[in-house]
Amino acid sequence: MCGIVAYVGQKPALPILLDGLKRLEYRGYDSAGVAVVTDGHLLIHKKAGKVRDVAAGIPMDFEAATIGIGHTRWATHGEPSDTNAHPHFDCAGEIALVHNGIIENYAAIKSKLEAGGHVFKTQTDTEALVHLVEDWYRVSHDLFTAVRLALLEVHGAYGIAVVSSREPSRVVAARKGSPLVLGIGNGEYFVASDPAAIISNTRQVVYLEDGEIVSLDPSGYVTKTIQNADVMKKVMEVTLELEQIEKGGYDHFMLKEIHEQPETIMNTLRGRLNEKEGTARLGGLRELTDRILAADRFTITACGTSWHAGLVGQYMLEQYARIPVRVEYASEFRYRNPIVGPSDVVWLISQSGETADTLAALREARARGATTAGIVNVVGSSIARETDGGTYLHAGPEIGVASTKAFTSQLTALSLITLMLGRLRGTIGPDQGRAIVHELEILPEKAEKVLEQEQTVREIAREFQSIRNFLYLGRGYNFPVALEGALKLKEISYIHAEGYPAAEMKHGPIALIDRDMPVVFITPRDGTYKKVLSNIQEVKARKGRLIAVADENDQEITRLADFVLRVPHTLDFLTPILTIIPLQLLAYYIAIDRGCNVDQPRNLAKSVTVE
Ligand code: F6R
Repeated sequence: MCGIVAYVGQKPALPILLDGLKRLEYRGYDSAGVAVVTDGHLLIHKKAGKVRDVAAGIPMDFEAATIGIGHTRWATHGEPSDTNAHPHFDCAGEIALVHNGIIENYAAIKSKLEAGGHVFKTQTDTEALVHLVEDWYRVSHDLFTAVRLALLEVHGAYGIAVVSSREPSRVVAARKGSPLVLGIGNGEYFVASDPAAIISNTRQVVYLEDGEIVSLDPSGYVTKTIQNADVMKKVMEVTLELEQIEKGGYDHFMLKEIHEQPETIMNTLRGRLNEKEGTARLGGLRELTDRILAADRFTITACGTSWHAGLVGQYMLEQYARIPVRVEYASEFRYRNPIVGPSDVVWLISQSGETADTLAALREARARGATTAGIVNVVGSSIARETDGGTYLHAGPEIGVASTKAFTSQLTALSLITLMLGRLRGTIGPDQGRAIVHELEILPEKAEKVLEQEQTVREIAREFQSIRNFLYLGRGYNFPVALEGALKLKEISYIHAEGYPAAEMKHGPIALIDRDMPVVFITPRDGTYKKVLSNIQEVKARKGRLIAVADENDQEITRLADFVLRVPHTLDFLTPILTIIPLQLLAYYIAIDRGCNVDQPRNLAKSVTVE
């Protein structure tokens, strides 16, 4: 995810900025840059690649500056490139800005500003904000006021830091939905998106809250709300060590990423829901929409966790958009002479965008004339570049090898695609569309609620840590969740686990059931609930021990299951976004109890770029 660092004081700013950026490298990024103000001029240097590449090319005249801002970018709008790297600057080259987050209404702001004569140079959402600040500066002649007024016009999430050659010893910073911390030194101040960037300089910090803005210069700082009300802030001391900070205070990246899901689901949804029309807007599919609507059928192809997301997508798209969908392992698709042609749309799902089999499947589909669309997390990755269009997840870098937050974002993106196509094809009516939009909007809160059961999951994990085999059963939308839950456990705890459609159990796996084969049932109150209850009875009759992932209002299940993990009620097709979360936690805690390395499980790589 993107990182911000800023400095104002008496010391040379550049080494402080570069050191801060290096400490943010663990978050993942694709480009970096710095801006300083020196001798009445704004100087900017930015580049795709690593912080060390940026540092190597910085001209000497940056060295005298005692004020500056720096950034590591993880692309969301516009590919990773020198131009799209931050800081971004205004038409006059006097104001520079770094930004984490997404400006949802950047397109509208950009059109308005372009009509007023502003010239844009990048494909980013951020550039709209710096030109907007420039516009307000012309009126207010005060950087703090200009930034504040510009932010009143912005929808979306931001953590920003801004400098201007017009006010050569002031940094203005603000946040909404993207963290920002101030570091308090002696006659010097720091700003960072993450304390890791500044704790080698000071451990005295002030955390900005959403909707707050600060002006810092060597004599002090003033905090206000964006609406211009005064706010008093408390100075706190950071006691965490660097490694703990990198993992957000969690023991592992996987746990941090599991906990990020309310936010990452929201980031996938951000700016894409249209409440009034009851539909979704997906800019990356706009040019393909006619071809998608004309298609005879869809093929979804992917590997591993992404393939499981594809299976849920198949159920969603067939039910709501009434389009025939087949889902294939990318590794099979590429070698079996698939029947695919110009009237097909092939969807490629990939977190990394670099998986060799998925990339090969994409090339195979293209060679046969199909329209290709990506559902990808890493912006500018090979799959994102080579598809005809697509949808980004905006889930931020996933560092833990076992995929967690990318999966729930893939499901969220698939639900947006389903909603959009259902509305366009008329298979979802306006009222139903609005009900879906409403439910999607409150999904992040519901995910937050699921995470509150961590303690219960820990207790269950302790009970089952020495078991050697697990069975995961689900039906309908939650059959792929059974597969994914089992995969998570296998990957990080090395316990053998199998996922099955619940009703298939009686066709074979039931022979395995005894006290030593716990069964995880994923059984929210959806259309298949009653049927799954019968399957549960079958397991009980054979003395199997049962863990259920069930609806928060389901009392019946308490009688049947040995352990119950609850999920808030939601629409059937959205249940997998919630039901997978306790299973991620279960796999995590069982693996921890067994002493496994969850972030780097044996034999696995984060991105499988070989066949
Ligand atoms: C499982 C996991 C893998 C990946 C698979 C595809 O936790 O991470 O199964 O899902 O290798 O990777 P992407 O999505 O990057 O194409």
